[in-house]
Amino acid sequence: METIYQVSNLKMHYPIERGFAKKVVGYIRAVNGITFNVYQRETLGLVGESGCGKSTTANCLIRLFKPSSGSILYNNKDGQQVDLARLSDHELRFYRKEAQMIFQDPYSSLNPRMTIHEVVGEPLLVNHIAKGGEITDRVGAILKRVGLRSEYMKRYPHAFSGGQRQRVAIARALIIEPRVVICDEPVSSLDVSVQAQIIELLKDLQTEFGNTYLFISHDLSVVRYISDRIIVMYLGQIVEMCDSDELFNNPLHPYTRALIDAVPDVDPKKKTVVPIMGEPGDPSKVYTGCSFYSRCKHATDLCAAQPPLLVDFPSNGKEHFVSCHHAQNWR
Ligand SMILES: Nc1ncnc2c1ncn2[C@@H]1O[C@H](COP(=O)(O)OP(=O)(O)OP(=O)(O)O)[C@@H](O)[C@H]1O
Ligand SMILES: [Mg+2]
Repeated sequence: METIYQVSNLKMHYPIERGFAKKVVGYIRAVNGITFNVYQRETLGLVGESGCGKSTTANCLIRLFKPSSGSILYNNKDGQQVDLARLSDHELRFYRKEAQMIFQDPYSSLNPRMTIHEVVGEPLLVNHIAKGGEITDRVGAILKRVGLRSEYMKRYPHAFSGGQRQRVAIARALIIEPRVVICDEPVSSLDVSVQAQIIELLKDLQTEFGNTYLFISHDLSVVRYISDRIIVMYLGQIVEMCDSDELFNNPLHPYTRALIDAVPDVDPKKKTVVPIMGEPGDPSKVYTGCSFYSRCKHATDLCAAQPPLLVDFPSNGKEHFVSCHHAQNWR
């Protein structure tokens, strides 16, 4: 498997400012030292409760945000390795042609004053990839590919339903044939029936174009369906990371177990839904031990005193990372 990103100790801390002088009184540790790889052509899922740092991670990887520290080594299409965390906007121009993002809300992510032609064709224009009639041809072709009629390009976003708008957003992201597509909750605002169609579309397009996906959702069943591997985040850190099936069959972190148990099952007899106890932690607080300590029924004195490291317990020859002092013995 070829690596496309090597993320090391990535941190994004937002300052908390008070008063007229905007004195910095603390930090929100939205992403607090995460290390992981992304492999070419895989779909890497990112799950966790609201506020755990999923979007912040995505925004750092797409370089909408410049991270506070850490590195994001990216192997570009010419085979060179660059640290995205350090590049200026000017130096990032090549990257804008290689990575695109799809956002959660297709109502606010599409400019209401632009026609679909303008919305979808814009990445070709601003990145100097095509102009004039060629843009129109490519917009028509990609609209058809995402299941919309090419005549729709003359219309404005308000004429479309949520699902259709998300198809427009997908067309806009894919028109430049990016190597990487970062999807931040792309189906969370859609009806369940429409969700399935959009996920199928994303899967088909990936097979066709061979892109790498980072797919974010707070919905574990959606992530399981689309992802090859999954990262579980808690309070700005990675608590578990492994193959999708392995995560569900053999979760090594009590938080992952709790997330799986909290998924409602279609068969009411099969599983009882157990809500995760307690409130998600506070990202502005500094934790001495494990940040999941106060919510974990398996926690010991060691968990309160020392933060666990992310350790690999390989299974069937594949990596399975977990950060829990009792990964091997809490079950
Ligand atoms: N621009 C910002 N300034 C200050 N704090 C922020 C900013 N963006 C996010 N945060 C805080 O950082 C933490 C992580 O937020 P983030 O949006 O990355 O979480 P998330 O996992 O995407 O959550 P959700 O599932 O609700 O989308 C939260 O506590 C959030 O309030
Ligand atoms: Mg988010």
